[in-house]
Amino acid sequence: MATINDNYLKLAGSYLFAEIGRRVAAFKEANPQADIIRLGIGDVTQPLPAACIEAMHKAVDELSQAETFRGYGPEQGYSFLTDAIIENNYTKRGISIDSDEIFVSDGSKSDCGNIQEIFGLDNKVAITDPVYPVYLDTNVMAGRTGTLQADGHFEGVTYLPCDASNNFAPELPKDHVDMIYLCCPNNPTGTTLSRAELKKWVDYARENQSVILFDAAYAAYITEEDVPRSIYEIEGAKDVAIEFRSFSKTAGFTGTRCGYTIIPKTVKGRAADGTLVEFNKLWNRRHTTKFNGTAYIVQRGAAAIYTPEGQQQVKELVGYYMENARIIREGLEAAGITAYGGVNAPYIWLKTPNGMSSWDFFDKLLTEVNIVGTPGAGFGPCGEGYFRLTAFGDRENTLRAVERIKTKLRF
Ligand code: MLT
Repeated sequence: MATINDNYLKLAGSYLFAEIGRRVAAFKEANPQADIIRLGIGDVTQPLPAACIEAMHKAVDELSQAETFRGYGPEQGYSFLTDAIIENNYTKRGISIDSDEIFVSDGSKSDCGNIQEIFGLDNKVAITDPVYPVYLDTNVMAGRTGTLQADGHFEGVTYLPCDASNNFAPELPKDHVDMIYLCCPNNPTGTTLSRAELKKWVDYARENQSVILFDAAYAAYITEEDVPRSIYEIEGAKDVAIEFRSFSKTAGFTGTRCGYTIIPKTVKGRAADGTLVEFNKLWNRRHTTKFNGTAYIVQRGAAAIYTPEGQQQVKELVGYYMENARIIREGLEAAGITAYGGVNAPYIWLKTPNGMSSWDFFDKLLTEVNIVGTPGAGFGPCGEGYFRLTAFGDRENTLRAVERIKTKLRF
């Protein structure tokens, strides 16, 4: 009989957002009249920018003619897109990235999850706690961890606690670690790392020959000057960091799917025979073997955000969600609830009132005021006692949700 990958059995029954979806569906079935407002999964609600739509329509037309039709494209992405990304997100910020250091994909969730495949199984992994579940779950699946312990931690993983007591900024690990996942602006806490904090991590990685896996999917939401938009703004980071970026939250591509990963050729790991190998080469091998490129139409849409109109429209889109973030944060504070994030990120991380558990607060919010959020405990043990609301709803629902919390929720 075929055997299974037993590592999957170590995981919690279902992926966090699948579990939330299941609970909400059950509630809706029992309460069909309930007017549910969803501020749980960080999915966008506003249409794609007009510049993207126009470019995608044009691309569809191109595919209708033999002369302009395209089949397989370069797995790493068309140069019209990679050149625009490099120019706008890196060169303009004084960072030099070569065209063979960028890999366009179907989104950063896939890349953040798949990247661990090019690392040895004996690498020691460090993750912040709470954390976007993909980093941890994919390492569990690969067999880089032991089993789940009673305290909610996986054996063999170095957890870096982040809560109000350290201002949600992880401290350097006491033991040596090889792979370090950092997400900035952070999902789920909505908080950021300053330039000085990030430098500490780059210095640690250089001293310890570790690699930082830097998820910058929410970079477009940064408003404060002292928060780097890219880890490569930190000196020396190009030797030790891989960066993930996404069009999902920047321009509404959650359903359309487009992201990219930067792997400088200077980031290296050691092979079993002791030679140093570029991670870039390994990822290129993986990408070309397992992926056939992001759809041409989607890449044309993504490239359109770098036109002057596209830039203006993306700015307005991000501004729209950040206004929601302000409304939620201020509304929570007015209701006497302590809230974090929402200044450089579209997530608001609140302290559950009266020491309530995250899942109890989830149930209370759902049943009493019909609002769906995400329990902090779903992101790791240190998320217990916290709760996440997303600013990606539409304005009307965001205002209605805040009003319900202020006027109808009883503590
Ligand atoms: C979230 O809600 O944390 C995000 O939508 C998840 C994701 O981007 O995959």
